[in-house]
Amino acid sequence: MSVRMPVIALRAPSAADRDRVGAMVEATGVFRPDEVAVALEVFDDAVAAPGADYHALGAFDDDKLVGLTLYGPTPCTVSTWDLYWIVVDPAVQRLGVGRRLMAASEEAMGREGGRLVVVETSSRDDYAATRSFYEALGYHRAAHIPGYYAPGDDLIVYSKPLAPPTAGTAHDG
Ligand SMILES: CC(C)(COP(=O)(O)OP(=O)(O)OC[C@H]1O[C@@H](n2cnc3c(N)ncnc32)[C@H](O)[C@@H]1OP(=O)(O)O)[C@@H](O)C(=O)NCCC(=O)NCCS
Repeated sequence: MSVRMPVIALRAPSAADRDRVGAMVEATGVFRPDEVAVALEVFDDAVAAPGADYHALGAFDDDKLVGLTLYGPTPCTVSTWDLYWIVVDPAVQRLGVGRRLMAASEEAMGREGGRLVVVETSSRDDYAATRSFYEALGYHRAAHIPGYYAPGDDLIVYSKPLAPPTAGTAHDG
């Protein structure tokens, strides 16, 4: 049996993609219901006022949203940006969609003057793949706060300096 490879296009999502965001976030199985609600709130803000506080970038396979990043400048910092959320539909994970989304999001942050990207995740076993993902993309563990999310569920902060944008860099989202 042959598996169809997704043909991915990156672009800003719209309010019409909201149900897909909820479905994808829930399908990963790692987020609590309150976290799903927060992801949707941030998504709503990002599509209602793109770039005001949050930016969204979607990965589409044939017009179906299969991946999403939500990011924005970190308040009270000089050019630090937070990657608030990344999710890839489990049906197309491990095919490079997340890597492409992160590369395009980092490029967009760099174009906006971003200097450093910070991302927070959990120490739980079910986030092992997520930690491997960030480490594969050049993120370094910058901080670790035991018991931050819950007893036994630590906060792990990753960071990555952004290369200054080069003249004529292609826009991809
Ligand atoms: C983390 C996530 C976004 C990765 O997306 P993805 O499209 O599957 O990742 P990619 O295929 O681009 O993987 C890039 C690299 O990351 C690493 N990686 C990704 N998934 C991995 C896994 N399950 N196990 C080990 N390494 C993994 C690999 O080095 C991989 O490169 P390779 O496939 O050439 O070996 C996706 O697994 C996901 O949505 N997870 C649930 C949501 C989540 O945890 N979000 C972050 C919250 S903090």
